[in-house]
Amino acid sequence: MNEALFTPRSAATWRDPYPMYAALREHDPVHHVTNTGEGEDYYVLSRFEDIFAAGVDGELYTSTKGITPSYNDMALHRGRELPIVMMDGPEHIELRQTILERFKPARLAPLQQQLRDFIVDRLEQFRVDGGGDMIVDLCKPLPSLFVSRMLGVPLAERTLFDDWAWKVASASATGELMAAGDAVMEMVEYFGKLLAARRKNPEDDLVSDLAHAMPASGVPLSDEKILGVCFTMVLGGNDTATGLLGGTAEILTAFPDQRAQLLSDPSLIKNAIEEFLRLTSPVQGLARTATRDITLHGSNIPAGRKVLLLYGSGNRDPRRFGDDADQCDIRRNARPHLTFSSGAHMCIGAAAARLQGQLLIEELLARCPKFAVDIESSEFAEGNFVRRYDSLPFKVEK
Ligand code: HEM
Repeated sequence: MNEALFTPRSAATWRDPYPMYAALREHDPVHHVTNTGEGEDYYVLSRFEDIFAAGVDGELYTSTKGITPSYNDMALHRGRELPIVMMDGPEHIELRQTILERFKPARLAPLQQQLRDFIVDRLEQFRVDGGGDMIVDLCKPLPSLFVSRMLGVPLAERTLFDDWAWKVASASATGELMAAGDAVMEMVEYFGKLLAARRKNPEDDLVSDLAHAMPASGVPLSDEKILGVCFTMVLGGNDTATGLLGGTAEILTAFPDQRAQLLSDPSLIKNAIEEFLRLTSPVQGLARTATRDITLHGSNIPAGRKVLLLYGSGNRDPRRFGDDADQCDIRRNARPHLTFSSGAHMCIGAAAARLQGQLLIEELLARCPKFAVDIESSEFAEGNFVRRYDSLPFKVEK
């Protein structure tokens, strides 16, 4: 076992984690990380089949002890309601069902035009200016617009919300949520007021759905539970979607032949999004905890140890996707991939991520078919789990 095979990534090293992933898959598919300090060791799975199976077997690989490799995950939640990503059993399934209703096509349809208008507005501004920053001007605010409208934040209060949402999401990505303490407090207060208003007068939004949901237990969802869901939406729906959108612009620049195919046949966009999801894999990894001793590929993972599931590596595993797994092929049958995980905690917002991707590609190709992003001058965001650009210069080439 070679300790140097794995190092957690951050802004300075996110650009190219793929050789590291390939070496892990090939030489040490159950990698043991021991250089983390006393009692903090964990294991890293890097092959598609192993990660997929771990996601599906939530009894053996539990989420209830937190989803990072840190053994301090639970400290933050002691005495509080657990967030949905750490719940299990019937209560988890029921809460998921309530939220998932909001992501059905008919419920997303009214937001679609608002999202498209926003994209068109930003791209037209790029055309006037000759370019801009793809992330700052478009890929950051678009997901935030979606999350705010879905929750029920009125349009007029959206920019206020954007600011909090980004401070909170960025702080959380580095594991320092309380570094955004003021924004957290202001957002809690804001959601508290929104929830009180929707308990009295429901509207067509997620906060109203949750406020009036009637679980099988007969006990309505508590304010704390609902506020937790609001926060999870802000944390789970922002920088992840930014990663997909910015990464898609990068791929369309790096693979001009694939762009040409989409330009000549836009009906390929739907399938192409799965390939962009696979290759960008914005959540590169999250953890589970082994509930029993596990033996895998001749290695032992003792009960109670954290196991990091490297979705970003599994998504490029040649055993699953073939020898051209690092290449973009918009006609590939990329599903199932690991971008949204697998099993009971599979992403609730997948339909919204796909929708944003679809709208962005349609408008980008229609309005700026010859655009280019400057990958050399780009910057990545901090954080060990989400790989996304923080800045990506965009040029409208005529
Ligand atoms: C490309 C964009 C996105 C990616 C890559 C992504 C990725 C993921 C992944 C990997 C998980 C599983 C977490 C785990 O392994 O424990 C997850 C769960 C979740 N995601 Fe997403 N997500 C995206 C967009 C969204 C959006 C737009 C929303 C909502 C606005 C959202 C809400 C959630 C929620 C609520 C969960 C928890 C589900 C549960 O625990 O039952 N996600 N997401």
